[in-house]
Amino acid sequence: MTPLSRSIARRISLQGPISIADFMAEALSHPQHGYYMGKDPFGRTGDFITAPEISQMFGELVGLWCAEVWRLMGNPAPVNLVELGPGRGTLMQDALRAARMLPAFGDAASVHLVETSPVLRDMQALTLADHQPTWHDDLSHVPDGPLIVIANEFFDALPVHQFVRAADGWRENLVTVDADRLVLTAAPAASAAAALLAGREPGGVGDVAEVCPAAISIATALAERIARHGGAALAIDYGYAEPTGAATLQAVRQHHRHDVLADPGTADLTAHVNFRDLRDAARPFAAVYGPVTQGAFLRSLGIEMRANQLLQRATADQRPAIESARRRLIDPAEMGTLFKALAFCHRDMPAPPAFETAAND
Ligand SMILES: C[S@@+](CC[C@H](N)C(=O)[O-])C[C@H]1O[C@@H](n2cnc3c(N)ncnc32)[C@H](O)[C@@H]1O
Repeated sequence: MTPLSRSIARRISLQGPISIADFMAEALSHPQHGYYMGKDPFGRTGDFITAPEISQMFGELVGLWCAEVWRLMGNPAPVNLVELGPGRGTLMQDALRAARMLPAFGDAASVHLVETSPVLRDMQALTLADHQPTWHDDLSHVPDGPLIVIANEFFDALPVHQFVRAADGWRENLVTVDADRLVLTAAPAASAAAALLAGREPGGVGDVAEVCPAAISIATALAERIARHGGAALAIDYGYAEPTGAATLQAVRQHHRHDVLADPGTADLTAHVNFRDLRDAARPFAAVYGPVTQGAFLRSLGIEMRANQLLQRATADQRPAIESARRRLIDPAEMGTLFKALAFCHRDMPAPPAFETAAND
C-alpha cells in the first residue's frame, strides 16, 4: 500500500465505503500525497503528454482563436484571459506569442491561472514570467469583467461518481477495503448521489454512467459569468458527445494503463468528459457550440498552413517531428476524433472561429 492508500483505508474504516469521486479527489489533490501536488507529470519521463506539449502549433492556434474572439467581443480592455489547469504554462505561452499578431489584444489581456498544484504553479511562473499572471485556487476568485477562458485537459481531471445499472435502478460503485487492498463494491441500495442521474435515460442492465458534479458546476459558473460580463470559453478534452453506457475512468502511469485503485497518488486518474452535461449546464446562460472534433477544430484554424510554414523553415532533422506532431493532433486514429472542442459564448456574439458551422443552442 502507498501512504495514501493507507490513509484512504483508515478513512474507510472510520466512515465506511467512499465514492469514486472522493477517492479521485484524494488521489489527485491530497495536500501531501496527491498526484498533482508533488510532481511534474508531463513528457517522456513523466506519465502522459498533452497537445500543447506535443507541438507549439496547438497553443498558437488556440491563441489565434482567443484573439479573434476578443475582436468579436468588441475589443474590451481590460479582458481577463483565464486558463483552467495550465500544466507547465506551455499552451498559454504559445497562445500569447501567436496573439501578438493583434498587439492590442496582448495589451488588453490580463492573465489568470486557475491551478491547484504548487509544483506546476512554480513551472508556470518561470514559463510565463513576462506576462505577470495571477494564480487562483478556483474560478470564483478570478476578478469580474469580460473574460476568455481556455481549458485543455482540465475537465477530465475532475472527480466523477460512477454508477452501474442493476435491474431495479442505478447502484453507485464505491471504494472499500478487502484483505488490505482497496477494491470496488456496488452500493447495496441507491445512494444519495444517485439523484445526480435523475432525468437520464434508464440504460440497460450492466450499463455504466459517470457523473462529474465539479465539471457541471464549473461549466455553469463559466456560462453565468459570460452572460454577466461578456466573453467566451473553450474546453478541449477527450470525451463523448453522448453517453455510451461504458466506463471511462482510467489510471495512467509512465504512459501505460494502470490499476485505478492500486497506487493512488502515483498514477494520473481521469474520466472521459461528458460534453452533453457541459452543454446542458451552460445552455441556460450562454450560446453553446459543438462539440466538434479536435481534428476539425485545428484544421479550421489552419493547422495545415502552420505546419507547412514550420516545415519550410525546418532542417531535415526537424521535419519528421513536425509531421508527426501534426498527425498526432488531427489524425482520427490518434487525438483527432476522441478529443473534442466545445465553446460557450455570450449570446450577442457571432459564432466563434472553427464553430461557424457547428450547431448552436
Ligand atoms: C492534464 S493536466 C493539463 C495541463 C495543460 N492544460 C495541458 O494541456 O498541458 C491537468 C491540469 O489541471 C490542473 N488541475 C487538476 N485539478 C484541478 C483543479 N481541481 N483545479 C485547478 N487545477 C486543476 C493540474 O494541476 C494540471 O495543471
